[in-house]
Amino acid sequence: MAREVVEYLNPQSGGTILDCTLGFGGHARNVKIQNPNVKLIGIEQDEDALQEIKDINGIQVIKGNFRDLGELVKTRVDGVLFDLGISSYQIDEASRGFSIRFDGPLDMRMDKSKGKSAYDLICESSEEELYLIFKNFGEERYSNKIAHWVKKKLPKTTFELKEIVERAILGWKKRESVSRIFQALRIAVNQELDALSEALPQAVELLNPGGRIVVISYHSLEDRIVKWFFREQKKDDILKIITKRPVRPGEEELERNPRSRSAKLRAAEKNEK
Ligand SMILES: C[S@@+](CC[C@H](N)C(=O)[O-])C[C@H]1O[C@@H](n2cnc3c(N)ncnc32)[C@H](O)[C@@H]1O
Repeated sequence: MAREVVEYLNPQSGGTILDCTLGFGGHARNVKIQNPNVKLIGIEQDEDALQEIKDINGIQVIKGNFRDLGELVKTRVDGVLFDLGISSYQIDEASRGFSIRFDGPLDMRMDKSKGKSAYDLICESSEEELYLIFKNFGEERYSNKIAHWVKKKLPKTTFELKEIVERAILGWKKRESVSRIFQALRIAVNQELDALSEALPQAVELLNPGGRIVVISYHSLEDRIVKWFFREQKKDDILKIITKRPVRPGEEELERNPRSRSAKLRAAEKNEK
């Protein structure tokens, strides 16, 4: 949703845009192309992405987790972007352990320098805790059975986990369940929902009056957090919601990039006080 991101951020000459999920800088570059006189600040927690991004001119890059936004960024900004989740690079790099298509160690950390890998999390969680992770973050119907077998077998690799899930739910829509279990573990490992809930108020705090916040989410749990946050801020007369309904990718983008099919963009503007 490259065009929509720029349209809703509406970057103005001399203004500052903060990209909280810089990745490989796709959206940041587009903003710069659209308006070269914009100052760009980017946050990213993945060291691999940061190595790539080093060469983009004119972006102030900060390594960190956006849940610490208030600590990481001290200047006021005119636009904030969150393009949530993981990048195509992270999905396709087997060694990161995110993908159901490639065999790799069951890691799933976006920041490899911190926290527990998915394997550690499985080892340290009880069956009941795994059940809750799968149910709450994956909305998986067979969480019970799957948690039982995952705890019993303690998978070390992505393919081991995939096989355990497939065996646990014999005959059912296996691929969807495997995807949901991978999503659930990834969310738990990276504490994604907590990070988002903590970051949104800090982002609004950093915005100048008239500044915009744009969030692209990829599953309903994230989108719900954004929707309710915007509603609350509207009630308190802090934000004006610009997208009455979430904006979805167009046909052409879906054809070009099938991974965008679950994307939902929401945007809001900070009221003048
Ligand atoms: C969907 S990708 C963004 C792609 C980017 N917009 C681009 O155009 O290249 C999400 C990125 O956000 C990063 N990320 C996710 N959660 C984060 C967090 N809490 N703090 C910092 N970076 C985060 C991921 O490591 C990943 O690189």
